Amino acid sequence: MTMKPFGPTKLDAALIPKVAQQWGTPIYLHDQRYIENSCEQLLNMPNAFGLHVRYAMKANSDRTVLRIVTNKGLDLDCSSLDEAARAYAAGIPYSRMMLTTQEVPMGEERIELEGMITAGLKYNVCSLLQYQLIADFAEAHKIDLSIRVHPGAAGGGESATRDTGSEYSCFGVHLNDVPTVKAMADELGLRFTQVHVHIGSGGDPEKWRENIDRELGFVKAYFPDATTVSFGGGLKVARMPGEKQADIVSLGAYAKQRIEAFKAETGRELTMEIEPGTFVVANSGHIITRIIDKKLTNELNFLIVDGGMELLTRPLLYGSEHPIAIVRQDGTLLSSEYDQSPSEGVKPFGIVGRCCESGDSVRLDGDGTIVPVQIVEPEIGDYVVIGGTGAYSESMSPENYNSHRKPGAVMRTQSGELVQIRKKQVREQLTQNELDVTL
Ligand SMILES: Cc1ncc(COP(=O)(O)O)c(C=O)c1O
Repeated sequence: MTMKPFGPTKLDAALIPKVAQQWGTPIYLHDQRYIENSCEQLLNMPNAFGLHVRYAMKANSDRTVLRIVTNKGLDLDCSSLDEAARAYAAGIPYSRMMLTTQEVPMGEERIELEGMITAGLKYNVCSLLQYQLIADFAEAHKIDLSIRVHPGAAGGGESATRDTGSEYSCFGVHLNDVPTVKAMADELGLRFTQVHVHIGSGGDPEKWRENIDRELGFVKAYFPDATTVSFGGGLKVARMPGEKQADIVSLGAYAKQRIEAFKAETGRELTMEIEPGTFVVANSGHIITRIIDKKLTNELNFLIVDGGMELLTRPLLYGSEHPIAIVRQDGTLLSSEYDQSPSEGVKPFGIVGRCCESGDSVRLDGDGTIVPVQIVEPEIGDYVVIGGTGAYSESMSPENYNSHRKPGAVMRTQSGELVQIRKKQVREQLTQNELDVTL
């Protein structure tokens, strides 16, 4: 299979009013073809002695997405007990999941965790305490463990908030604690058959390469039983046309070469594991919003759309940029940032949502100031489409803020059909867990 460069999905503008008219706005739109293609690209990465790909389901944990991805052969990386339970409810067996979490489950959750592990879930030990709490159970049931190592070195995140390797992050057993944990495991005869490091999301691919060498050093120094080395996720995608996507073929080739060199040195054949989230789904998604008002001020012209930070919080959280397209009500494309083709007659507009927050905008700078988007002036009722929103959008947003209901989602299938995969919340869901008490 040839590896094609992979970038933001071309927008099919005619689709936008079809989706909006059938299911309303705002709405999330996903693309099965894109997701399946990205799974294939990942599974075809060069490797030395086998490749295992897990999808980091925190990126988008919708059951339809999980089923598409697992049907293509990816397993799952879960970041909480609830994620694991949710994937199981979608029909995915625990034996296809690994749990990498900051939680230290106690009480009923602990019992639940034990059931999941007995059913085949791989437990990735992420702290000294986590090890201490799981050791007796693992020993009693002869369960091999995975260990997440905090490398104690600058990680690879696109921003400090997405760097999970530096001294300002606390994910995994810190390198200083690794000898202690290893000695304790040796005493019980427990084996770490997998070593895992995830240095962050969307950073410089060079950092990913550096991590491969560093991590293989940990495997050699501390983990003679390891048969799998997981390099985590973090593969960068290009959401905006000017951005550079990680070249996964070249990263795979590098990993292959280093794992082969490891074999030459130690005689050990390691399977490579990766767990991308962003790469699988980010560019499969669009958010369709409708322009509900315009405010033309002396300083900046605003378009108010019917969805913002409660649908997509990445601009506010990270200053992330997503391509914007303006689509007319008849499905013609008025202007688009999805490719670099210049649009005639563009003007700067601040595009803002409905929440009472001055940071509720699709584009902000590092200080939270709105950055105008250059577009052709649309009419009220036209659509603002936000691209690159398949990952960390509906799974991460401050949904229900200002009591806006979480919108539904639609999947464009392999055959081009539009299928609703999640309904919009109903108003009762906003308050269903509140109790009427007399104080
Ligand atoms: C442990 C772990 N693995 C994988 C990922 C996926 O990262 P990305 O979506 O950048 O590929 C994350 C993201 O936070 C993570 O924390």
